[in-house]
Amino acid sequence: MDEMEKPSDAKRTTVRPPSVLAYLDPNYWNERFTSEDHYKWLKDYAHFRHLIHQHIKPDSSVLELGCGNSQLSDELYNEGITNITCIDLSSIM
Ligand SMILES: C[S@@+](CC[C@H](N)C(=O)[O-])C[C@H]1O[C@@H](n2cnc3c(N)ncnc32)[C@H](O)[C@@H]1O
Repeated sequence: MDEMEKPSDAKRTTVRPPSVLAYLDPNYWNERFTSEDHYKWLKDYAHFRHLIHQHIKPDSSVLELGCGNSQLSDELYNEGITNITCIDLSSIM
């Protein structure tokens, strides 16, 4: 998870935290999500769509752990998967 090598969201110029331990700190995420709308960590939903749809049906219940500001749940919802619960460490989310 190296944000400096491959920034994938032109809207954000992410500064690497001083330590990866920052990722365990709710305050890091709260501060980040205050100013960041979306950030793609890996690939677009379209890249993983075929893998996800092997395992879920329109009536599936989906739990997204550590959802952050991901648009995954929006993408799923727009495709008819509407029973989605998103949780995150950050209270901003
Ligand atoms: C690398 S971000 C990924 C966010 C999102 N899944 C995405 O792909 O854009 C990690 C997320 O996990 C959340 N997180 C970290 N530790 C957590 C925990 N113990 N319980 C729930 N969420 C946690 C952070 O707040 C952050 O939103």
